[in-house]
Amino acid sequence: MSLAIALVSGKGGAGKSTAAAGLAHAFAALGKRVLAVDCDIGLRSLDLLFGFSRELVFTWGDVLRNGCTLPQALLTRGNLSLLAAPLFPTEAYDTVVFELLMHHLREKWDVILLDAPAGFPTGFALAAGAADTALVLSQPEAVSARAAASCMRELRSAYPKLPARLLVNRLYKRRVQGGVFLNIDETIDAVGAQLAGVIPEEPAVADTFGRGLPLPEDAPAARAFLRTARRLLGENVPLNVE
Ligand SMILES: Nc1ncnc2c1ncn2[C@@H]1O[C@H](COP(=O)(O)OP(=O)(O)O)[C@@H](O)[C@H]1O
Ligand SMILES: [Mg+2]
Repeated sequence: MSLAIALVSGKGGAGKSTAAAGLAHAFAALGKRVLAVDCDIGLRSLDLLFGFSRELVFTWGDVLRNGCTLPQALLTRGNLSLLAAPLFPTEAYDTVVFELLMHHLREKWDVILLDAPAGFPTGFALAAGAADTALVLSQPEAVSARAAASCMRELRSAYPKLPARLLVNRLYKRRVQGGVFLNIDETIDAVGAQLAGVIPEEPAVADTFGRGLPLPEDAPAARAFLRTARRLLGENVPLNVE
């Protein structure tokens, strides 16, 4: 059975694409066949984070318009594949047709990660509409949590059956202790969603994902993505914030 996860946040910069990359590598390390689908039409980034930008020719938009075949649009390395987002935000995409494509893809992939755009444009509806569960990203600070709470409200009203969980990103313990950031409890309360995981501030993110590489296995964020992936697969994993 496949699991389709929409990464959403309401606000840009919360870490949806970073989490899509981190979780994709984590699920792949757990032996899953992983497909990442960039739904950020016009502002795609996963091709860069996975190091596919030189090979990228076709997008899922081309597949839906019969401009290429599915194998032509799929970028694959090992058990990790990517479908890149269309470049032009003006083109219209039908949620039902997109859902049918995702439904078809479930036969071959164990986990599908749908990386949504900021706000609630078409790409958000495509990701949420095709998902089994939503992962709402928030940084542990008031502005980010407010946007994540607004995203939760949107999900509850437009997708009432879609379960949604919180992924706290960029936790920096010293700033929490200094009163600059919210702590994990305060972030959970502000967003109003059950916690799926906590990803620490990770200096290696820029150096690795920025060059299309996975995080080093011993990086605290890599371990946090792995624990989050296992929780999303239904395992009981202690929080163990590093
Ligand atoms: N855990 C983290 N540690 C350090 N930097 C991070 C972390 N998560 C995200 N970033 C950085 O924050 C910026 C925004 O992240 P991104 O994933 O593009 O956000 P979004 O997709 O939600 O707009 C990027 O420069 C990324 O490298
Ligand atoms: Mg993004």
